[in-house]
Amino acid sequence: MSDHIDHLLTETRRFAPPEALASESATDAALYERAADDRLGFWAEQARELQWETPFTEVLDWQPPHARWFHDGTLNVAVNCLDRHVDAGHGDRVALHWEGEPGDRRTITYGEMTAEVKRLANVLTSLGVRAGDRVAIYLPMLPEAVAAMLACARIGAVHTAVFGGFSPSNLRGRIDDAGAKLVITTDGGHRKGKVFPLKPTVDEALREPGHGVTNVLVVRRGENEIDWVDGRDVWYHEAMADAEPEHEAEAFPAEHPLFILYTSGTTGRPKGILHTSAGYLAQTSFTHRHVFDLKPETDVYWCTADIGWVTGHSYIVYGPMANGTTQVMHEGTFDTPTPERPWQIIERYGVTIFYTAPTAIRTFMKLGRQHTHSSDLSSLRVLGTVGEPINPEAWIWYRDVVGGGTTPVMDTWWQTETGAIMISGLASVTTLKPGSAQVPIPGIEIDVVDDSGASVDDGDGGLLVVTSPWPSMLRTIWGDDERYRETYWEKFGDRYFAGDGARKDEDGEIWLLGRVDDVMNVSGHRLSTAEIESSLVAHEGVAESAVVGATDATTGQAVVAFVILKESAAHHPVEEAERILRQHVASDIGAIARSRQVFIVPDLPKTRSGKIMRRLLRDLAEGRDLGDTTTLADQSVVEAIQSQLR
Ligand code: PRX
Repeated sequence: MSDHIDHLLTETRRFAPPEALASESATDAALYERAADDRLGFWAEQARELQWETPFTEVLDWQPPHARWFHDGTLNVAVNCLDRHVDAGHGDRVALHWEGEPGDRRTITYGEMTAEVKRLANVLTSLGVRAGDRVAIYLPMLPEAVAAMLACARIGAVHTAVFGGFSPSNLRGRIDDAGAKLVITTDGGHRKGKVFPLKPTVDEALREPGHGVTNVLVVRRGENEIDWVDGRDVWYHEAMADAEPEHEAEAFPAEHPLFILYTSGTTGRPKGILHTSAGYLAQTSFTHRHVFDLKPETDVYWCTADIGWVTGHSYIVYGPMANGTTQVMHEGTFDTPTPERPWQIIERYGVTIFYTAPTAIRTFMKLGRQHTHSSDLSSLRVLGTVGEPINPEAWIWYRDVVGGGTTPVMDTWWQTETGAIMISGLASVTTLKPGSAQVPIPGIEIDVVDDSGASVDDGDGGLLVVTSPWPSMLRTIWGDDERYRETYWEKFGDRYFAGDGARKDEDGEIWLLGRVDDVMNVSGHRLSTAEIESSLVAHEGVAESAVVGATDATTGQAVVAFVILKESAAHHPVEEAERILRQHVASDIGAIARSRQVFIVPDLPKTRSGKIMRRLLRDLAEGRDLGDTTTLADQSVVEAIQSQLR
């Protein structure tokens, strides 16, 4: 779609909440005023929605760049997500409607999930896991993944979930950096009609000594054949059968570490983002309630994120479960066995709130509306998106075709680091503008600034900063506080630098413009150009490489690599070299890092000081006219690359 039409769509269309949604909601616009009048008082009020063992007396202790929220209070995160709902008489409420990819189903109530987590807490303790110890969770979308996270939280252990698509060396890197002593995994999960083995990846990751893992707890799911290390490996179902059913939960300080989640930065080494307990839980549950107008008694909520990413943590496990939500969890991919699958699931469970990624929406669009029309989607009342900017065309398609032309579409901006939604409308309050993520949620303060830190209010755009600390903010980078300071705080002092470009329009509403650093966003997943470049140069045939994120109609961005081969590899036919290198990166990092294209080139465009000109490579990859190339050290390089691309 041309920029011109995009512009017309966004400038002319506004969508107010449907009358019924606005009048029956517990959320109202007064939240903004309350938060603006007394920001800390407002967050204290939200935190008091949680169940505390010892109430806090201090809301915020801010020693930039370190914040402590509610720090003298104590609570147990798992009790907040489970036991308190059972105690309130909701033990029979469904927590999870789970569907396996082959079509098998499980329904798990809050009472049952509480019992599972208590037993699992006892299993973890019997395996020597204590408060503060780290546990790696390498599991696909199984109810046991939810139980594993909550069982860690229950005993004060710190989980680090690793996305099931990551390679052995990536898994090992995270296990080592976190110092994990236990890994929880499965024999295999179902994906695209096959069993996708996971345990062999764990075995491979742990093959070389030097790690601190003493046990591997294995959930039986795929029933695929696996190797077994006696004394180390433990079947989940056997350990659970032997475990005591009762478990008394201990309260932990509000700032007790809850989880570490690794995310890509601008260097080759992923960052272990550390989140703590009460502030994180307060903001995830608050935003989940008010952004989506949640009614826990009647709503059926489905977030399609994977548990291995932050959206799975904040908007499948912690936020929704703290709110006592009934949700759908689905194991496989959307197109298996047919593209009708997601819509059949919505109809089957009467899903009312659906939260997914723009890349999925664009895929649905490409497949065509006949698939959505195969099912009755009239139960849907609120839709959401996260992970990357959503173009107005996809926004309107989502609302019209999935949402029957009536549902609000909540475009939620946030990051692994922010822990919870920061910019979004509120479903029952906000008049929405497709393509804009709207405004900071109540209690959050955000600005768009230029390089010197001055606010930019005209439409030109600048850098997104968060101007005051927020409850669910990251507390540090695990094991590297210096990198935490440098990455997020060095640029603007006590304002958090998000790494995103943004602009404010004439109504003060925010439009996200993508990353301003060397981080790519592929299908809503963050990938570092540096990480893929170092993987490429680790291949024996590669002399040098440069990776860029090129615009892609479905995935937002796609990985495009430019590679100079060593003399010794130059005899390979180009197609073969490209195929080998794509495969190399996929097995070194994981399939998500696989390049869309690898171009074998004779040289890379560099400035006179030797810096690779990525902007130029991006233009080349996207087939655009090259802008100013006068800073290039050698003009002939571009011509040589262009002749390769043709
Ligand atoms: O560039 C922004 C983009 O995703 C980045 C955060 O990625 P990650 O930590 O993996 O978390 C994704 C899920 C929260 C941001 O820096 N991003 C996320 N949501 C949006 C977005 N860009 C535009 N609009 C959004 N709604």
